[in-house]
Amino acid sequence: MGRSASGTPDPAADGRPRSRGGPLPAAPWWAAWQEAWQDWRNRRIADHGFRRWAAGFWPTRPLARRQAARLFDIVAGFVYSQVLLACVRLRLFDRLAASGPQPLDELAATLALPARAAERLLDAAAALGLLERRRGGRYALGPLGAAMVGNEAVAAMVEHHAALYADLQDPVALLRAGGPGRAMAACWPYAAYADDGPDALQALDPGVVAAYSALMTASQSLVIDEVLDAWPLHRHRVLLDVGGGEGRFVAAAAARAPALQLMLFDLPPVADLARCRLQGLGLGTRVQVHGGSFFDDPLPQGADLVTLLRVLFDHDDEHALAILRAVHAALPPGGRVLVAEPMADAPGARAMGDAYFGLYLLAMGRGRPRSAQALGALLRQAGFGGVRALRTRLPLQTGVLVAEAAATA
Ligand SMILES: C[S@@+](CC[C@H](N)C(=O)[O-])C[C@H]1O[C@@H](n2cnc3c(N)ncnc32)[C@H](O)[C@@H]1O
Repeated sequence: MGRSASGTPDPAADGRPRSRGGPLPAAPWWAAWQEAWQDWRNRRIADHGFRRWAAGFWPTRPLARRQAARLFDIVAGFVYSQVLLACVRLRLFDRLAASGPQPLDELAATLALPARAAERLLDAAAALGLLERRRGGRYALGPLGAAMVGNEAVAAMVEHHAALYADLQDPVALLRAGGPGRAMAACWPYAAYADDGPDALQALDPGVVAAYSALMTASQSLVIDEVLDAWPLHRHRVLLDVGGGEGRFVAAAAARAPALQLMLFDLPPVADLARCRLQGLGLGTRVQVHGGSFFDDPLPQGADLVTLLRVLFDHDDEHALAILRAVHAALPPGGRVLVAEPMADAPGARAMGDAYFGLYLLAMGRGRPRSAQALGALLRQAGFGGVRALRTRLPLQTGVLVAEAAATA
């Protein structure tokens, strides 16, 4: 899927037509004017003298400054995220939430940093909106730091970036190789599994499986509330969470819909972790946990709602389609599938899709972010109809699609 002859656009891959050379496709009458304007604009911006003029001329000054700041943010992005990493490792946000505003010397002592280094970090964090300076030289949480208090999801991702950044140290080499990166592949236990077949399951290292599943469990809170708020579970009798990890979502669904029966399906070592976790939560009998691979084993029957949370974007189109077909086969006609993951082209969150997850998944070695349109095309190909996007509060974190299983001929 997604390949087309040279010169023709390829709408199937992600819903966004791309030219691969040759004659251009038909376009609306204004497209040529738009491109001429874009080319003129770029020639002006590429000219140093014009940039200086635009930065000084009052009508263009705000735009010129905004663009310069955006470019610098991209240039400095790594440093900004390392400031955040230092704050997370030093538990700065939780400490300030507990203590309230603190003067430099007290914070330096608490963080076990030399005063000059503490000041450097605190000023950097304040400049980024993570902290705020208060009267009398004290430092307090800023709006972004306040959002990090107790935020294990973002903290886990920030820590996990050590592997991603190691692989992105030479981005051109990673791109030339087409992924995966060594560090990211090492934390993703099932990277090669879909191709290697059931025997590869035996080779999964329990320690790596546990570390990766813990990261997923920690970061899943970014998705759970969005899904539970987007789709009313009380309409359903039995929910099956496919690729459900350690069961955090089914546990939240159990609390939200007390009458709902629940099943979880994941690779056997992950299913073992889920059983253990769910038992600890008192859900051992309410949730049926099944171990297996959605590429080799049939999914359990009986659900009228299947959820796929952050599962499809880990896989290329061929494997994503295989998963959706397996889900379709497990559902009765009229049953629903709910797909939730960060999506490309999400309004207000485009960088998160194509720039962040695009490179993240390249480093992992498989998968890619898809637009809602591309996911819809895959769902239809797998036999689902009535595909629609549900509204989420933070499309940056997750988009949600729901679709209905059509009767098979
Ligand atoms: C990115 S994680 C998402 C986990 C969870 N749904 C969440 O949102 O945190 C992908 C999940 O798919 C599971 N998975 C990967 N390959 C699988 C396979 N072949 N069969 C069943 N589950 C698989 C992984 O073990 C993992 O739990």
